[in-house]
Amino acid sequence: MQNYQDVLAEVLIDAPTLQARIKELGAQISAHYPDGDLLLICILRGGVPFMVDLSRCITAPHKIDFMAVSSYGVGKRESSGFARVTLDLQMDIHGQHVLLVEDIVDSGHTIASVLDMLKTRQPKSLKVCALLDKPERREANVPIDYVGFTIPNKFVFGYGLDLDEYYRNLDFVGVVDLEKYTPPGEA
Ligand code: IMP
Ligand code: MG
Repeated sequence: MQNYQDVLAEVLIDAPTLQARIKELGAQISAHYPDGDLLLICILRGGVPFMVDLSRCITAPHKIDFMAVSSYGVGKRESSGFARVTLDLQMDIHGQHVLLVEDIVDSGHTIASVLDMLKTRQPKSLKVCALLDKPERREANVPIDYVGFTIPNKFVFGYGLDLDEYYRNLDFVGVVDLEKYTPPGEA
C-alpha cells in the first residue's frame, strides 16, 4: 500500500480542528441528555476514532455498543440502498436513549437502513451524530441531529474513513488524489 502522503490531494480538516469541533459536539450532547441515560452506538469500522474521542467529551454518563453493517454496492465506493447487519448489538435498546455515531453520511442509505431496523426495537429516543455530512450525494432523506462538518462531494480518508480499508488511523481528514492512487492488487 502506498504511503498516505502519495495519495493525499489536500488536508480537508486538520487534527486540532477535528478535536475542537468534537469538544463542542460533546458539550451539546451532554446538555441534551442531562440524566445521563444514554447509549452511544458506533457503526463499525469507520465510526471508531470519532466515537472514542466523542465519548471522552461527553460528560453525561453513558454506555457504548457497536454494530456493523455492509451495504451491497454497485461499485466499491457506491452505496446501493440496502444495508445488511453483519454484527449486531450486544445490548437491548428497548426503552433507551440511543445516539448513533457514524463517520460520514453520504447517500444516506446506510443510516436509513440502520434507523429503520433499530426503530423496531423501540428505543426511548433515536438520534444520529455524524462527523461528516456530504449533502450533495444524498439519496435517502435522513435526519442528522448532530453534524461535525459539512463537506463537498470529494472522496475523503483518515480519522476512521478508509481507502480500501487503509488509512483509518490518520488523525486528520484528507482528500484523495484518485489519479495518484493505485488500489491494492493493481500495483
Ligand atoms: P452512505 O450509505 O452512502 O451514506 O455511505 C455511508 C458509508 O460509506 C460510510 O459509513 C463510509 O463507510 C462510506 N463512505 C462514504 N463516503 C466516503 C468517503 O468519502 N470516504 C470513505 N468512506 C466513505
Ligand atoms: Mg467505509
